[in-house]
Amino acid sequence: LGLEINVDYIATHGLDLTGRTLIDRRIGFDAMGSDVDRSLERLVAVVREALADLAAARLRVMGITVAVPGLVNVETGTVLYAPNLGWRDVPVAQRLAAGSAPIPVRVDNDANLAALAEYTAGVAAGTPDLVYLTGEVGVGGGVISGGRLLRGGDGFAGEVGHLPVDPNGDLCGCGRTGCWETKVGLAALLRMAAPDHAYGRPDSGPVRVPEERLTEIERRQAAGDPRVEQALREIARWLGIGGAILANLLNPRVIVLGGYFARFRGHLIAEAQAQLDRLVVAGADARCQFVASELDFRAAAHGAAHVAVEQVLADPTMV
Ligand code: BGC
Ligand code: NA
Ligand code: ZN
Repeated sequence: LGLEINVDYIATHGLDLTGRTLIDRRIGFDAMGSDVDRSLERLVAVVREALADLAAARLRVMGITVAVPGLVNVETGTVLYAPNLGWRDVPVAQRLAAGSAPIPVRVDNDANLAALAEYTAGVAAGTPDLVYLTGEVGVGGGVISGGRLLRGGDGFAGEVGHLPVDPNGDLCGCGRTGCWETKVGLAALLRMAAPDHAYGRPDSGPVRVPEERLTEIERRQAAGDPRVEQALREIARWLGIGGAILANLLNPRVIVLGGYFARFRGHLIAEAQAQLDRLVVAGADARCQFVASELDFRAAAHGAAHVAVEQVLADPTMV
């Protein structure tokens, strides 16, 4: 069972040991309007519901992996820092294990898990050098280099959303200024496309998942609203700038655009690619292509479920 808790939704993905999807759900969730305890209670409730539904179908859950939008100690399953949730030192694995024992629970960064999903089952499956970018409120990176997930010394590799691309830029959820996610994150799109948009304040009515927030922008885009077109051009330009930094640093063959980036693929990729090609030092020799994910907002939960399956298959006592 894979789960993803993010700023505005909780996703659940269930896979059997052959990789077939059993559950694929997403509910709106207002992380900004909840404290840590209420968020964890919600997460536990979502897990319980999935366990009950699977049990009713005579299926047994053998492992749970949770994707979170932040820095994770994967050994302990503790979220050290999730800037857009406002979490610090939250023992997610411990809290979940209490509610779902004896099923083993793992926790990892959302973008890392999404990158694994892309690498194993996505548009760039089998490409040993790729970067996955989440297109959500936060922008995260999952780096596959030489066929392996790059973790770095402390496990914090891939925090591309906080690349300081503009020292004079806007305030980021992490408290710094001019991070890349302030240029290309979902909040930047909503702000630029509609300066009066009350993003970050409680919506009236039920909490909406990101695609519902995007529907209105898509409609205005189709109607040729110049503000939306301008916002998308600006985001594409900054995607290209950040992409060039990644291409110079990591030499990936593919940068997979996830989340809302994939929704607006038709309006982002050509411009971002042109920008990247202009900026990257290896030029056309680098052959680094932006492609849109097909996994949509389910990439991280799918990757989480995939990792849970791998854990089971790697443990001969469980199969
Ligand atoms: C966090 C990352 C996360 C990304 C996407 C960023 O703000 O720092 O850890 O992967 O958002 O959720
Ligand atoms: Na990451
Ligand atoms: Zn930041």
